Amino acid sequence: MPKPEKHVFVCVQNRPDGHPRPACAQHDSTAVADEFFRQLEKRQLFSKVQVTTTGCLGPCSEGPTVLVYPEGVMYRKVTPADVGEIFDTHLVNDQPVERLLMPTMFWG
Ligand code: FES
Repeated sequence: MPKPEKHVFVCVQNRPDGHPRPACAQHDSTAVADEFFRQLEKRQLFSKVQVTTTGCLGPCSEGPTVLVYPEGVMYRKVTPADVGEIFDTHLVNDQPVERLLMPTMFWG
């Protein structure tokens, strides 16, 4: 397997009802992950981009969260409709999607 140029982590953490912290899965992050996998397949970028679902990335109140390495860029409140733009702008053209960036008070 080639080393990916970009590695995308999508938080799909869930928590039981009544837990004091929110969880990305309660805000449909599995649909976000599914859309990343769908776009990866559609664009045939397997040699460049790897997508991995993950547990909590930290700033739960801002979820669904998505983290892209090697840059360490984190996105907040990502929806399935945002995924195509993340591919076009960041994963292919190396520019972060400014409107989705996690504020530095949470990450940075
Ligand atoms: S549950 Fe997703 S960042 Fe914490």
